[in-house]
Amino acid sequence: MKFLTQAIVACVVAATARAATPEQWRGRSIYQLLTDRYARTDGRTTAACDTQNRDFCGGTWRGIINRLDYIQRMGFTAIWISPVTYNIPDRTLYGYGYHGFWQQDLYKLNDHFGTAEDLKELSKILHERGMYLMVDVVANHNGWNGDWRTVDYSRFYPFNDQKYFHRYCPLLNYSNQTEVEDCWLGDSKVVLPDLNTQDSSVVEQYGKWIKELVSNYSIDGLRVDTAKLVDKAFWSSFQQAAGVFCSGEVFAGDAFYTCDYQNSLDSVLNYPQYWPLMLFLNSTTGTSGPLLDSLSSMQSTCKDVSVLGTFSENHDLPRFASQTDDMALAKNVLAYTVLSDGIPIVYAGQEQHYSGYADPDNREATWLSGYSQESELFKLLTAVNSVRNRALYLDESYATYHIHALWNDPNTAVFRKGYDGYQIISVITNKGASSGSWMLTVENVGLAPGKNVVDVLTCKQITVGDGGYLVIVMDGGLPRVYFPVDAAKGSGICGL
Ligand SMILES: *[C@@H]1O[C@H](CO)[C@@H](O)[C@H](O)[C@H]1NC(C)=O
Ligand SMILES: *[C@@H]1O[C@H](CO)[C@@H](O)[C@H](O)[C@H]1NC(C)=O
Ligand SMILES: *[C@@H]1O[C@H](CO)[C@@H](O)[C@H](O)[C@H]1NC(C)=O
Ligand SMILES: *[C@@H]1O[C@H](CO)[C@@H](O)[C@H](O)[C@H]1NC(C)=O
Repeated sequence: MKFLTQAIVACVVAATARAATPEQWRGRSIYQLLTDRYARTDGRTTAACDTQNRDFCGGTWRGIINRLDYIQRMGFTAIWISPVTYNIPDRTLYGYGYHGFWQQDLYKLNDHFGTAEDLKELSKILHERGMYLMVDVVANHNGWNGDWRTVDYSRFYPFNDQKYFHRYCPLLNYSNQTEVEDCWLGDSKVVLPDLNTQDSSVVEQYGKWIKELVSNYSIDGLRVDTAKLVDKAFWSSFQQAAGVFCSGEVFAGDAFYTCDYQNSLDSVLNYPQYWPLMLFLNSTTGTSGPLLDSLSSMQSTCKDVSVLGTFSENHDLPRFASQTDDMALAKNVLAYTVLSDGIPIVYAGQEQHYSGYADPDNREATWLSGYSQESELFKLLTAVNSVRNRALYLDESYATYHIHALWNDPNTAVFRKGYDGYQIISVITNKGASSGSWMLTVENVGLAPGKNVVDVLTCKQITVGDGGYLVIVMDGGLPRVYFPVDAAKGSGICGL
């Protein structure tokens, strides 16, 4: 009997261990997409998609399957797709729920995106490629086409009764956490009825649902929408029921406020770093100081910065290229996004220098770029993802090494991440494309004199000087990303 019990326990452990853990996620690199906007089943790259219409443009899970090469060639090892569930079916005064955040029935899929078979196939094919599937999920609210007084709760499932929801109050004061958690988003055109996540029956039903969803579609991780609008106790049980890695959207700039959610969810998106990153790189007059301050405050405040979601764009924010059209700055911000602490997340279209400003303009169809692999940012991403993947392959503790600045002035910062021999030295600058050539000497790079390093963006090699320093020539405001040549050998990076 004893052995039998052990065998059963081993079996259960093996079954649950298949779900991807934070430790497995921290070495990943994520490509974020809105299913409706990434790729169509018919593969057409000329199908019109006027973002101002806020209508479905025809992207599907099948379409994603057929365009995975594009993502994988850039070195991404996971995708994050928009919510998969059934939404408000008709046109509202804010258009259709093509983005997926107006859920009504948790047990039905959004049939604009395909069938259950299609979604299972997407997951299976990702896994065959060694990639992970992250799905966006919403627990804070349902969606309703109209004013709060007109909500017909019987149209929702499984929360088909008013008793599952908080009493109506409009969320106005974001400094009042009770109000943030209990009041409703939306307005008289589209209102988002707020689930009473303190109610044990709601907790239980969400737990049952997420467990099934993860298992039915072999999902590896979840991006958790509006995490700060729901009480933390709910997230602890939700994550436990899900049994996979969860990264929460805590839209806030304060490290203490945001990091605290890491006690209930494995990870949060690194919003506290987002604004300082913009302040440094979205213009040639920015300064590096706030970014360095934010790095150290996240490192000292968060439980584990290696699993934070690090990004410079998403579907809720202005595209970087809407802030500046300087290509050198766009390269610097992407290089930093991939090489900083945490799990890099790049939003579809950033690699094509898309420039939509706010919602809905920042939800352009990726297919209209023709999925060009010749775009400068596509090439840059390929190079920086490759070197990060290489560093992780040689030494997985690269992921937990805290990035830090070896040198900085207001316009430029030199970063190191990774242990001796496998470190990546990156030079990030906001001097911009029209800046000339200049020289920079960096000490304490942690490499022996005479060692060669290669800039993976230009493939030019330089040698560590006698005093253990690097003399770096900067040009045209481009970033530099150095990696030891002997560590790159055999990787194909720069033909090595
Ligand atoms: C918002 O909430 C905070 C904290 O509860 C409170 O101090 C503040 O007075 C509120 N602001 C308004 C305008 O009600
Ligand atoms: C915070 O919001 C709650 C819910 O709306 C309200 O009852 C409470 O009075 C507010 N607190 C403050 C300090 O404004
Ligand atoms: C998961 O699949 C089972 C079996 O087909 C189905 O009964 C259940 O409703 C599904 N759950 C979800 C959340 O998709
Ligand atoms: C650059 O980023 C900062 C911080 O988010 C913001 O205040 C500023 O408006 C941005 N600049 C432009 C040109 O968008």
